[in-house]
Amino acid sequence: MKKLLILLFCVLSVTTFAQNRDAEMDLFVNKLMKKITLDEKIGQLNLPVTGEITTGQAKNSDIATKIREGKVGGVFNLKGVEKIKEIQRLAVQESRLKIPLIFGMDVVHGYETVFPIPLGLSCSWDMNAIEQSAHIAAIEASADGICWTFSPMVDVCRDARWGRIAEGSGEDPFLGGEIAKAMIKGYQGKNLSQKNNIMACVKHFALYGAPDAGRDYNTVDMSHQRMFNEYMRPYQAAVEAGAGSVMASFNEVDGVPATANKWLMTDVLRNQWKFNGFVVTDFTGISEMIQHGIGDLQTVSARALKAGIDMDMVSEGFLSTLKKSLMEGKVTEAQINLACKRILEAKYKLGLFSDPYKYCDITRPAKEIYTTEHRDIARKTASESFVLLKNEHNLLPIKKQGTIAVVGPLANSKANMPGTWSVAVDLKMPATLIEGLQTIAGDKAQIVYAKGSNLAGDSAYEARATAFSRSLNRDERSDEELLKEALQTAQNADVIVAALGESSEMSGESSSRTNINIPDVQQHLLKELLKTGKPVVLVLFTGRPLVLTWENEHVPAILNVWFGGSEAAYAIGDVLFGNVNPSGKLTTSFPQNVGQIPIHYNYKNTGRPLEEGKWFEKFRSNYLDVSNDPLYPFGYGLSYTQFEYSNVTLSSPVIDGKGELTASVKVTNKGKIDGYEVVQLYIRDLVGSVTRPVKELKGFDKVFIKSGESQTVKFRITPDLLKFYNYDLKYVWEPGDFDVMIGGNSRDVKSARFTLK
Ligand code: NOJ
Repeated sequence: MKKLLILLFCVLSVTTFAQNRDAEMDLFVNKLMKKITLDEKIGQLNLPVTGEITTGQAKNSDIATKIREGKVGGVFNLKGVEKIKEIQRLAVQESRLKIPLIFGMDVVHGYETVFPIPLGLSCSWDMNAIEQSAHIAAIEASADGICWTFSPMVDVCRDARWGRIAEGSGEDPFLGGEIAKAMIKGYQGKNLSQKNNIMACVKHFALYGAPDAGRDYNTVDMSHQRMFNEYMRPYQAAVEAGAGSVMASFNEVDGVPATANKWLMTDVLRNQWKFNGFVVTDFTGISEMIQHGIGDLQTVSARALKAGIDMDMVSEGFLSTLKKSLMEGKVTEAQINLACKRILEAKYKLGLFSDPYKYCDITRPAKEIYTTEHRDIARKTASESFVLLKNEHNLLPIKKQGTIAVVGPLANSKANMPGTWSVAVDLKMPATLIEGLQTIAGDKAQIVYAKGSNLAGDSAYEARATAFSRSLNRDERSDEELLKEALQTAQNADVIVAALGESSEMSGESSSRTNINIPDVQQHLLKELLKTGKPVVLVLFTGRPLVLTWENEHVPAILNVWFGGSEAAYAIGDVLFGNVNPSGKLTTSFPQNVGQIPIHYNYKNTGRPLEEGKWFEKFRSNYLDVSNDPLYPFGYGLSYTQFEYSNVTLSSPVIDGKGELTASVKVTNKGKIDGYEVVQLYIRDLVGSVTRPVKELKGFDKVFIKSGESQTVKFRITPDLLKFYNYDLKYVWEPGDFDVMIGGNSRDVKSARFTLK
């Protein structure tokens, strides 16, 4: 009873504190709103880019003058605390109302200490590590003047052709939601008033991960059923976790660009989900609506404002047309006020009105950026993100002895290690794979190197795929000469490490591909290396699932390392040499070929499903030329040890609407090495009022099990976990039978059944 009273007191105190804070904020912002002119209000809605870091096509000019005139609410992509301080000075000393600016940047997977690309990070299934990565990113970015990051990117994606699959957490909405929450917590902390927390921006709302044919910026079209059951969860989870801002996506939703979609931005985001931060467009999101074909700049700007957009990134559509629209009665002053208030509130929450230079302590960078502590954590996290796809005869880990030939166009690159969207990194700092391996092997093994091939046979393709100073220094020698050198280098080696795959800019924005194989010349090199008869380990760099059907058949060991961040080289060494036992599990299905896309584990059964284990049957939903299965399923990943799962036991075969049950499984480490295993819980709702997927991830637990030991993993199942959006888009559970499946990946599971009454 006493405990209950204390808890009640705490809850009430926190609520009162928050209410007081909100009341104070209201008072402050309302007072400011009385002083601000219409032009200055519209100015607050304007977000120009500095052009220092390129993340889009347009640039704004004469930002300084506009700041002095009160025509800028914030700027983005400016790096360096001293520069930011100077720009902030313009706003708070030279503009009439002295309203501070917010400074944004795409701090997507770390700042100068870079963590794995988000898709890789998600494969760690380690929510603490993910939160910590965002927290470290926040510390470093805030030390350098940034108070707002355009992250997390939470777009569910089932299409490996889309380059931006690299920036998200894969194909699952439940896991995506958990990761979104962890990231928001990491960036924003408990509250934004602390100087090392920054405001998050959830993107890209909504459905940006489902463009037709995987082509970036392409049309999206899907039913509301699919939207709410399969794509929306991560955005909503981020909002529930308190995300301060949301970014509108480039694509259309129901035939209206997200940036002008009132249903999306107001009815769903604000009214249904209770989002109370501000919404920013994506880069030129407003002016692009002219190309979308829904009107001229004035029309689309008015539509965006009325839909619920508060800030205009780069287009200057608000700045140049809103006043006119107001005069012509096309928007109301109340609509402009609302957007302006939301921006001012964000600045208030960030503490900028109390101290505009809160993020401008020029002594911080030297102490807080790229520290040994941060780098050690990034290295550990990177090793957790790698996925061991194949390991025949336990070829891995390799011994620190003899000669190791490291071959491939990605073996000797610093700039490609951090991965796409690492805009703040110093590209000279990351170690190359060769350096990383040599450091870890020390004097116990000799590392020899040959490039072996260029990234791609076609030099124009290679140029497109190595933008933003991430060149792989194309070798002018012929393919034959490069190959010959590699084979000579490999001749005396005990083992060959082939560092192949994509360059970092082959995924990310505007990097869609229709052929997702390892590029031609590299594949040829791999075949020739295998012909030497020496053991070959493929260290695969990639920002997306690749088609690895041939490689899976012929290469004895494949370690998928994504792009592991600034410390990737050491982390790869840690895993290759066995200092770390790999534990990453795929969060995205790897197809057998590109024609299977979109492919995902949580598909619907259809009226003509293929019987399990079969390949082809006439008049069934399948292909003539390939089975329906992915090459590597969602949740898959090997370890240097083996885990065995017992049958699933349920605490009860029946629950009612208020009840709960526990599903348990005993997991045993049968091998000789200690290791982590990601135990996954899937559920199937066998009969519904609408069709339901064959399985959906509903829980997971990453457990450490010593060699020879067992651990019982338990999952709590409540009716809440069984809810879905029905035909009327009501979020409900329905009585009936459910299959509980538990396993180490989405394919190999043990199951049990219960009834919900
Ligand atoms: C365009 C991208 O779509 C978005 O993710 C990014 O935050 C902005 N550019 C700003 O760089």
